[in-house]
Amino acid sequence: MKSNGLSKKLLSSLDHFIPDRRIRMTRVAEKNIKAAITAVGGYVPEDVLTNADLEQMVDTSDEWITTRTGIKERRILKDPTKATSYMAIQAAEKVLTKSQTAAADIDMLILATITPDMKVAATAAKVATDIGAFNAFAFDLQAACSGFLYGMSVAAAKIEAGHAKKILVVGADKMSSIVDYTDRTTCIIFGDGAGAVLMEASTNGYGREDDYLRSNGVGQAYLNIKAGGSLHPTTEETLAKGWDAIYQDGKTVFKYAVSEMAGAAQKVMERNGLTPQNLDYIIAHQANKRILDATQKRVQVGTNQLLTNIQHYGNTTAATLPLLLRDYEAHFKTGDRLLFTAFGGGFTWGASYYTWAYSLK
Ligand code: UT7
Repeated sequence: MKSNGLSKKLLSSLDHFIPDRRIRMTRVAEKNIKAAITAVGGYVPEDVLTNADLEQMVDTSDEWITTRTGIKERRILKDPTKATSYMAIQAAEKVLTKSQTAAADIDMLILATITPDMKVAATAAKVATDIGAFNAFAFDLQAACSGFLYGMSVAAAKIEAGHAKKILVVGADKMSSIVDYTDRTTCIIFGDGAGAVLMEASTNGYGREDDYLRSNGVGQAYLNIKAGGSLHPTTEETLAKGWDAIYQDGKTVFKYAVSEMAGAAQKVMERNGLTPQNLDYIIAHQANKRILDATQKRVQVGTNQLLTNIQHYGNTTAATLPLLLRDYEAHFKTGDRLLFTAFGGGFTWGASYYTWAYSLK
């Protein structure tokens, strides 16, 4: 009798709370939006700069470049009237066409780049306007080779917060515009290119699972363009010193890159229960094949799990991650576990874990 009395009480108190609970559940559902990559696209210029070409330009050899970097050729945007925005637009338009998305439906466009068309006037704004994304707000994100990784993280957060529904994240760099082609330590590494993804709310529960992003200003000394900023505006003196082209202390950057890319990847693996066995692919920044090999060994995945295309394009800075997605998209299946990792100037680095949200077939 007592228990009956109690359950009646309980029922009546539940009646009282049911409408409230429903409201709470709807709010929780909204909070659980997960951001997913739903389309990818890319663009590389037609002109190819081979190791043989570089042998004619600086004191180097195909053998040195191949064994030290794994690069065989890169693409160069030769037309002097075209800049980073041109490549970004090609990549973004491919994504819109593939996903049958109207440009007017894009809420936000992030362009990761260290080679904006101009120092002032965000290149992202031009890209958004030229593709017809009139309802978007757009900005450039400068985090060097980690720019695309950072951009995906910002986009995912805006989608998960319910602030935006469709975001284009573009990584594009015309590295040939900041490379000194008499400096053999840098001109052999970099290439031009662009890649883009569409990010939307996931419809099947797959998407961004975790991010771990970091930076350390100690890197300013080791990878930079010293002039042209507020510290050393361009003068005849800075030009004479070569301060307007990209400089890097390759050995130091190499050591940091291996340690931080692998470290970030391991951290994200650990906290998400990822193992070399249950992880499908690593999408790592393409800076040097030896850095990729060292990362692969530290993370202990198989060579076929760590994807590469550095041999074709060199280091395209913010474009390497989306270009990898473009080149390997046909291999990815719904639910595949992808781990992104990058390291770049600043220093900036990190890793992101995504469950892939679609299959092409
Ligand atoms: O994407 C952003 C992050 N960037 C990176 O992660 C790049 C990291 N660094 C690297 O990839 C490598 O350090 C480089 C590819 C830049 C250089 O490779 P390295 O094995 O570290 O070479 P090194 O700088 O220690 O130079 C070794 C030798 C030197 O000669 P000596 O002093 O031993 O006589 C260089 O002058 O190789 C020489 N060298 C070259 N020789 C032929 C440097 N560049 C070249 C070249 N061709 N292109």
